[in-house]
Amino acid sequence: MTLRRSLLALVLAFPAAAAAQSPAPYQPGLGDLMTMTVQPRHLKLGLAGQEKNWPYATYEGHELEEAFERVAKQVPKWREFDIPQLIAATVKQPLDDLEAAAKASDGPRFDAAYRQLTDACNACHKSANVGVIAIKLPDASAFPDQDFRPPKP
Ligand code: HEC
Repeated sequence: MTLRRSLLALVLAFPAAAAAQSPAPYQPGLGDLMTMTVQPRHLKLGLAGQEKNWPYATYEGHELEEAFERVAKQVPKWREFDIPQLIAATVKQPLDDLEAAAKASDGPRFDAAYRQLTDACNACHKSANVGVIAIKLPDASAFPDQDFRPPKP
């Protein structure tokens, strides 16, 4: 019997052995979710605002809001901190303002809301004792393959 066949025979005979071999489902931590789902959307929103690309900024504002909703579900408690409550107390209002400004194509209002959102990211980091994580307005794109300018009519 080849090694492959004997492994197959083993797995068929002992399903528990097969289960033991498959790794536990990947559980991203809060820092992973921030880096994967929150930070890129904050950046893309800033770039869209700089380009006055309101349809895309509306879309991406909604994506960021949903990303926070999933963070709240996935990590309701981080160390001693209540993450859904902190999200509601910090970024929720600026995100609502930002979406309203993008929908209204209101550049100055969007810029103000984006600054408030960025301040709110840092306010939460400070509240959760991770003030070393400092978020700022983006000055360059990390996405050279994406066009943030408004679509040509
Ligand atoms: C509910 C509070 C809260 C809000 C709101 C929040 N963060 Fe975080 N963030 C955290 C905590 C806590 C960590 C540390 C998690 C860990 O170490 O596992 C973190 C980690 C991060 C990290 C990872 C740091 C690194 O360098 O690896 C980034 C990036 C980040 N946040 C970006 C943002 C941005 C951008 C926003 C706003 C759009 C934001 N966060 C809003 C609580 C928050």
